[in-house]
Amino acid sequence: MKITAKEVLVQTHDTRIIKLEVAAPDISRKAKPGQFVMLMACPDGERIPLTIVNKDPQKGTVTLIFQELGLTTKLLGRLNSGDPLFALVGPLGHATEIKNYGKVILVGGGVGIAEIYPVAKALEEAGNHLEIILGSRTKGLLILEKELEGPADGFHITTDDGSCGRKGFTTDVVAELLKKDKFDLVYAVGPVPMMKRVSLVTKESGVKTIVSLNAIMVDGTGMCGCCRVDVAGKTQFSCVDGPEFDGHLVDWDGLVKRNSVYTDKEKHICKTVLQ
Ligand SMILES: Cc1cc2nc3c(=O)[nH]c(=O)nc-3n(C[C@H](O)[C@H](O)[C@H](O)COP(=O)(O)OP(=O)(O)OC[C@H]3O[C@@H](n4cnc5c(N)ncnc54)[C@H](O)[C@@H]3O)c2cc1C
Ligand code: FES
Repeated sequence: MKITAKEVLVQTHDTRIIKLEVAAPDISRKAKPGQFVMLMACPDGERIPLTIVNKDPQKGTVTLIFQELGLTTKLLGRLNSGDPLFALVGPLGHATEIKNYGKVILVGGGVGIAEIYPVAKALEEAGNHLEIILGSRTKGLLILEKELEGPADGFHITTDDGSCGRKGFTTDVVAELLKKDKFDLVYAVGPVPMMKRVSLVTKESGVKTIVSLNAIMVDGTGMCGCCRVDVAGKTQFSCVDGPEFDGHLVDWDGLVKRNSVYTDKEKHICKTVLQ
């Protein structure tokens, strides 16, 4: 489980997004779009989930792209090519259902752009017409534009400050596309507020909407209950029942609440350990 390559994709005053290639032949052989790994950066660290963004079964590697947020992602960001990860488990979660849906809108926000990449490639190979929308706060935070422009039939960028593409939110483009044409699927990954808004917009036109939820996970295998989320009034575990769910049925407010339960503790631990 050695890191075989590292690239800093984004480095600004407040944001770092890093790409790691990790030797994991068994995971690389089995991984499908939409699945994730649980990893530990060091022996006494916590376990965090990261999406398998790419794989190269010939080389026996998987690619992970993550934004440094708190302790574990910051510790991970300090590792370099040649360093080992303490633990890596996967592939986990249900894979995305890949088939020819027809016309699909793919929405990636922030580091969620990395998470839509494997799904975009697979949906393109299945013959879908893809409108791909990438959104970020500002131009310097955009990732994988070239990689995602390739499979796109229509390619759209939005930034909150208008520094690249159109000024505004990804949902503005989703609403416009839905007004102009009929779509068969919308697939969105990004911050919870973005996925919630996309789901609200698409609900009006009734188009099926799949979101990949970033619930906080502990074991990633259905045992601890930490990642539970309410979907259509039923308790689901994101790690084993998801991570993808019907965006129209998710209890978004409940998810936001659960995701912020440990924020103060996490901030304190991060400050203490990284001092
Ligand atoms: C299935 C799945 C796939 C994921 N894939 C990726 C990926 O490919 N790339 C990536 O960068 N991130 C991904 N995430 C999110 C990633 O797991 C979290 O960013 C990470 O666990 C944060 O850990 P930390 O210790 O660095 O930060 P923490 O100290 O735990 O958190 C720092 C801040 O981020 C918030 N936060 C913590 N966990 C999450 C979360 N899961 N979602 C949103 N906010 C959170 C906290 O409330 C806090 O404010 C994924 C999550 C899931 C469930
Ligand atoms: S992370 Fe423990 S049940 Fe899903």
